[in-house]
Amino acid sequence: MKFFIDTANLDQIKEAQELGVLDGVTTNPSLMAKEGITGKDNILKHYVDICNIVDGDVSAEVVATDFAGMVKEGEELAELHDQIVVKVPMIKDGVKALKYFSDKGIRTNCTLVFSPGQALLAAKAGATYVSPFLGRLDDISTDGLNLIAEIRLIYDNYGFETEILAASIRHTMHVIDCAKLGADVMTGPLSSIDGLLKHPLTDIGLAKFLEDYKKGNS
Ligand code: G3P
Repeated sequence: MKFFIDTANLDQIKEAQELGVLDGVTTNPSLMAKEGITGKDNILKHYVDICNIVDGDVSAEVVATDFAGMVKEGEELAELHDQIVVKVPMIKDGVKALKYFSDKGIRTNCTLVFSPGQALLAAKAGATYVSPFLGRLDDISTDGLNLIAEIRLIYDNYGFETEILAASIRHTMHVIDCAKLGADVMTGPLSSIDGLLKHPLTDIGLAKFLEDYKKGNS
């Protein structure tokens, strides 16, 4: 399972990278705005800064909503760095753009996916990644994890190579559950990765080992 971090915060990206388990980064216009990154030039520079920190894929989202605009923006983003994956929304022109990019060898991440049908379309159009937003489904009393399971089943039925990128992960149990369901990638906040570390018996056990070591070596 690949671990992506879902942020535009460079400190958090560095921290995750230093842990040695980071496979990539996802961003979106909201995450960029949260870090105060505004204006086209600053946003493009920020993507390059992120690529220079991590070794893996960095999703950069188009903001155009028409086919021609998405193609223009996506090609510009893809030119920035070979780690860039163009993030395209699941709308009709987005599906056309996914197919266009796929035919040109430009890697894509289809975002804002909330149903198995949308995920099927993304795979048919040749998306590299599909991003089902499970936290946002949970937010409206719908089972986000079930969507991951449904997409896994459909993709396995037909051998689609599109990778399931479980997005809108909010906490560590989402990561564990997505791993059980066979999501190829998870993207979440740093806290969702850090949470995997924690167990009180590890802390208690380590304290005891160190105490016994001190006794034997004093
Ligand atoms: O990767 C998608 C993500 O940024 C959305 O997460 O927590 O805003 O639903 P959230």
